[in-house]
Amino acid sequence: MPTSEIPNFYKTPPEQRIKLVRDFANLEEKEARAISSLSGLSMDVADRMIENVIGAIPIPLGVATNFLINGKDYLVPMAIEEPSVVAAASNAAKMARKLGGFRTSNTGPLMIGQIQTVHVRDPHRAKNEILANKDSLLAKANEQDPKLVSVGGGAKDLEVKVVDTERGKMVITHLIVDCKDAMGANAVNTMAEAIAPVIERISRGKVSLRIISNLATRRLVRSTAVFDKETIGGEDVLEGILDAYAFADSDPYRCATHNKGIMNGVIAVALATGQDTRALEAGSHSYAAFSGQYRSLTAYEKDKDGNLVGTIEMPVAVGLIGGASAVHPVAKAAIKVLGVKSAVELAEVIASVGLAQNFAALRALATEGIQRGHMKLHARNVAASAGATGDLVDLVAQRMVDEKKIRFDRAQELVKELSK
Ligand code: MEV
Repeated sequence: MPTSEIPNFYKTPPEQRIKLVRDFANLEEKEARAISSLSGLSMDVADRMIENVIGAIPIPLGVATNFLINGKDYLVPMAIEEPSVVAAASNAAKMARKLGGFRTSNTGPLMIGQIQTVHVRDPHRAKNEILANKDSLLAKANEQDPKLVSVGGGAKDLEVKVVDTERGKMVITHLIVDCKDAMGANAVNTMAEAIAPVIERISRGKVSLRIISNLATRRLVRSTAVFDKETIGGEDVLEGILDAYAFADSDPYRCATHNKGIMNGVIAVALATGQDTRALEAGSHSYAAFSGQYRSLTAYEKDKDGNLVGTIEMPVAVGLIGGASAVHPVAKAAIKVLGVKSAVELAEVIASVGLAQNFAALRALATEGIQRGHMKLHARNVAASAGATGDLVDLVAQRMVDEKKIRFDRAQELVKELSK
């Protein structure tokens, strides 16, 4: 099995990088071309994806190196416009490797479809009646998607609750669907719509909304990594990370940014692989607030050997069939690069990247701060826009970083001086 630990990958020219990725993932010429084309999407495909298409907006696609998850090496495609994210993920994954990388688990790919019934005279009786008809309701739901059922998925359970609202009591039915390798929104919504008239009749109320819930508490993934104390910079760094985590977990103002850092990784992989990124954002943040207080999606502890244990648990509703992941040529190639064989495996990689990203951010914040890393890339951009080319870009950038003066006029001076 090829390793994802590729020394100096970041210094390798992009043409060489795509070759390395191509060899790692056995990409076909066509797939490698789709990735490196910078557009990858034809007008024809774009026009079939959404309405009123006029073009496409390319976002840089990088790969994070060093990821070892459940003993398997991954090169992780990440689509993101923000500097430092891919480097930070790769760096964190490298540190995690020392003690075995990431270990994951999951609840299975179960999604919840909600059916809202209003104007029910006796809502608790309606609840019991709906539950008494569970088998026939599940059968009706499953008639909608024989393909999903044939691979072991489909509607598996019903839950019913009576919710007190400012518009009176409502009967809310949850249809639990095993979505297997689909994200599941289409399957779940179709099933919810199909059983709605039956629920309406049984409850003697009026069914209104029939829609998937993005608070995917039945589709959780977990990942754990142990970071060697010395590798991460020693006792003080470890304590700083524990303090940073405690701060986030107790203060929603900090926690919003803390969880945003997790989503830097999560959304970058999701975007690269053609997922519904808004569903992931909605699911993650609502899960973070599920206890009634907005809290960290990750947790950190010190183990008996004094090493740092990082864990994450979050809902990750992603799919490999249907949606953009099935039609976008770059997303399809990115999934091949990742080498995941199921939606659950993709979800576990995504959670691991989220954990890596969060660890990297906390480590940077608890030590030198994040600006130094950001500034390096920023300095390269300034150097290039001031006319530096080739090796001069790094020389000019490094000088500006050393001088802590990253400005266009200084870059111009340095270009003149150093190109002599
Ligand atoms: C920046 O995109 C993400 C961070 O702000 C996350 C954090 O503060 O933990 C660095």
